[in-house]
Amino acid sequence: MAVPKRYYITTPIYYVNDVPHIGHAYTTLACDVLARFMRLDGYDVRFLTGTDEHGQKVEKAAGAAGIAPQAFTDRVSQNFRDLAKVMNYSNDDFIRTTELRHTKACQAIWKALLDAGDIYLGSYAGWYAVRDEAFYAESELVEGKAPTGADVEWVEEPSYFFKLSAWQDRLLQFYERNPDFVAPRSRRNEVISFVKGGLQDLSVSRTTFKWGVPVPGAPAHIMYVWLDALTNYITSVGYPDTKNDLYSKFWPANLHMVGKDILRFHAVYWPAFLMAAGLEPPRRVFAHGWWTSEGQKISKSLGNAIMPADLVQTYGIDQVRYFLLREVPFGQDGDFSRAAMIRRMNTDLANDFGNLVQRVLTQVNRNCDSAVPEHGEYTAADLAMLKPAHELVDRMRAQFREQAFHLALDAMWEVVSLANRYVDAHAPWALRKTDPARMATVLHVLVEVIRHLGILAQPVTPDAAARVLDQLGLGPDERGFDRLGIAHALAPGRPMPKPAPVFPRYAGEGEAAKG
Ligand code: MSP
Repeated sequence: MAVPKRYYITTPIYYVNDVPHIGHAYTTLACDVLARFMRLDGYDVRFLTGTDEHGQKVEKAAGAAGIAPQAFTDRVSQNFRDLAKVMNYSNDDFIRTTELRHTKACQAIWKALLDAGDIYLGSYAGWYAVRDEAFYAESELVEGKAPTGADVEWVEEPSYFFKLSAWQDRLLQFYERNPDFVAPRSRRNEVISFVKGGLQDLSVSRTTFKWGVPVPGAPAHIMYVWLDALTNYITSVGYPDTKNDLYSKFWPANLHMVGKDILRFHAVYWPAFLMAAGLEPPRRVFAHGWWTSEGQKISKSLGNAIMPADLVQTYGIDQVRYFLLREVPFGQDGDFSRAAMIRRMNTDLANDFGNLVQRVLTQVNRNCDSAVPEHGEYTAADLAMLKPAHELVDRMRAQFREQAFHLALDAMWEVVSLANRYVDAHAPWALRKTDPARMATVLHVLVEVIRHLGILAQPVTPDAAARVLDQLGLGPDERGFDRLGIAHALAPGRPMPKPAPVFPRYAGEGEAAKG
């Protein structure tokens, strides 16, 4: 029997103490692009995002805003749902940790851990950083602060513990058997050396504040916000009902996408919790890098957070989506600068891809009766143009499998450049009078190349790609990857609507020059 093509991808759930900025938009964008790619490739996809609404940090932010935590989270969580519209995300579920389905899942995993003998009651005395919602050992502190630079406070309270120390060997074995579990590779080494360094039992309940999921049977305790938050990934597929359709179809998740700052929670604590509860760990965790803004760390106090809605309004949605995934090798840190954004928008999108589409489709419209041109025999040059277009999907698949978005886009733009050179070399406009049959063949080859590029551009630039495919006259069922290749080449004579520009240049050119 064929292996079912299923794909479950998740974003971290976002703390609602703050409004979303470009860093948050980035994590979800990467997931959205993968989700769209896999859907077009015939997979049954589930794409989850949401908000992390419990814990001391959110409780404090609500206090500072002078409203009750629930009303506060209702308001800020909405900003993240609005972001999904602004950034054109295609998520299938949006989870809030204050929902009843999630409380039930959290309490169920707690009971499973307790029944397994992995949770015991003790008391915690040590450092806690509210900003990171994380406990730190004295030895980890740097000049009285958390290694992340967050302020720490001394906490002493009764607490339940998870026996993390007992999972060291099993975790190391798990990483050994699943070499692709943590990516990129350098991060995997980091995780392994952390675990080899020895694991302390983890405090998993708090008693000195109230904003969280109550521990079943011990109402003075609320669950540690990270145990609560991580559980969202199984809540969404119906846990604790592991027999239901969603759970059996989609768990274990194929990919948890996270920023490098929260890798430890996902690659160490989460698989340990799951294995202890008798559940399967996810297949892969990818830790991406961080964005700075014009060379500076993005921070509330510097007031330099870049708001996704502003960017989209200034440069366009697909331009922003393309820039974020093309500019910086995925996995590394990167810097956002307006000059770089405008350069990508004008060069890659408007000049290279946009012009290609525009000049080819305009010629088809003028010189081929607005219909797919007839083609004669292909020359070696035609085949050398078609082949890389036909093979592009395989190259992109391989890069997407590794979450190497920038390389997938590189591969695509190689075909774009090749096509521009092919147009120049074969100058179809000059053939109109001298050899109209040859002109038609050249334009046919180019229409096919554009069809491939348009179909493959859908995950990253969905709106613009849809406009390209509209201009080729493709129906909704002609846009999947199953339509790629010569077998599905457009039949000559099919009508093609009037072309219109797809990728505008940035209007405020002065700003581009400044960069
Ligand atoms: N609530 C936790 C995650 C729980 S998942 C079970 C959390 N939330 S967060 O809102 O602080 O961060 C969410 C994601 O945004 C993280 O993956 C983080 O790396 C990412 N980013 C926040 N700022 C960022 C940049 N400046 N650049 C890139 N990503 C950044 O952690």
